[in-house]
Amino acid sequence: MRDTTILAIESSCDETAAAVVQNGRTVLSNVISSQIALHTLYGGVVPELASRKHIEKINQVIGEALREAERDLDEIDAVAVTYGPGLVGALLVGVAEAKAIAYARKLPLIGVHHIEGHISANYIENPDLEPPFLCLVVSGGHTHLVMVKEYGGFEILGRTADDAAGEAFDKVARAIGLGYPGGPKIDRAAREGNPDAVFFPRARIEGHPYDFSFSGVKSAVLNYLNSERMKGREICQADIAASFQKSVVEVLVDHTMQAAEQTGSKRIAIAGGVASNTCLRQAMEEACAERHYAFYRPSPVYCTDNAAMIGTAAYYEYLKGTRHGWDLNAVPNLRLGQRV
Ligand code: KG4
Ligand code: ZN
Repeated sequence: MRDTTILAIESSCDETAAAVVQNGRTVLSNVISSQIALHTLYGGVVPELASRKHIEKINQVIGEALREAERDLDEIDAVAVTYGPGLVGALLVGVAEAKAIAYARKLPLIGVHHIEGHISANYIENPDLEPPFLCLVVSGGHTHLVMVKEYGGFEILGRTADDAAGEAFDKVARAIGLGYPGGPKIDRAAREGNPDAVFFPRARIEGHPYDFSFSGVKSAVLNYLNSERMKGREICQADIAASFQKSVVEVLVDHTMQAAEQTGSKRIAIAGGVASNTCLRQAMEEACAERHYAFYRPSPVYCTDNAAMIGTAAYYEYLKGTRHGWDLNAVPNLRLGQRV
């Protein structure tokens, strides 16, 4: 069979990324220009600044991705781009760029759902992984427990009722003075801390065993900080980071194992930025090993936002015949499985 080479673009939040992916699972290049330094000044992502930075960087990042892959545009079979969900201004930069390249080169255009991309990151390093499998998606904007029934076919078993897991990491990190970006900083600080120093609540939602809620644990951390400060006590960042992380990871693993048991799925995957968390990876691996489940997780670079995962998802959409028109637009609140 002839090779299919896809140029993929991702600009939904604060990373400008481009990748060249061959036949869905071979990453020829994966270039990511992070805006962390820019947004750190403000303690979080500033949407308008993100859009402007994407415009500044996108051509350079795409050029680099093609160079690294040793491909020129004549050797590309399709152009893929994240068109939602995400920040509208940020998404528009990638969508406009992808449309321009595809139109100029008369190439098919494939719009990709960002979360479908995150889930598909698992295919890159696991040549044996095919649907169906159960996937826990934990990112800055989403927390979903998803049954991947077929390529691009999903059933959402559970979701968060309030904050996403990554959002909780970011807010708690800010509250204890670790700053932005919160997830990696809590991960690092927690290594020096005692996870049993403080008990934070593990939220369950009556009647919805696969749903999540993280606003309670965030409030519990804030209350704990206030009460300690009022007593004039020093807080230990590492202990709070480790205790908070343990409470979140326990719930994530517990719900995933319950869903696996109920659905009979023996293949478990994780995806999204929080899937790069050391404690979550380890706890999920142990829980799966105990039950003889196969456990899949992307390398950290494919967990956080990147374009290789978009190229992988796009390949399977390409095989199914998904093609978008020149009217493709950014859809900031695009739902998983929704076609626009
Ligand atoms: O998937 P992602 O890169 O972007 C979104 O689609 O949202 O996820 C970003 C989120 C942020 O909230 C970040 O704090 C979190 O993932 N994150 C982590 C870690 N690395 C990134 N959370 C916990 N531990 C980490 N090591
Ligand atoms: Zn993401």
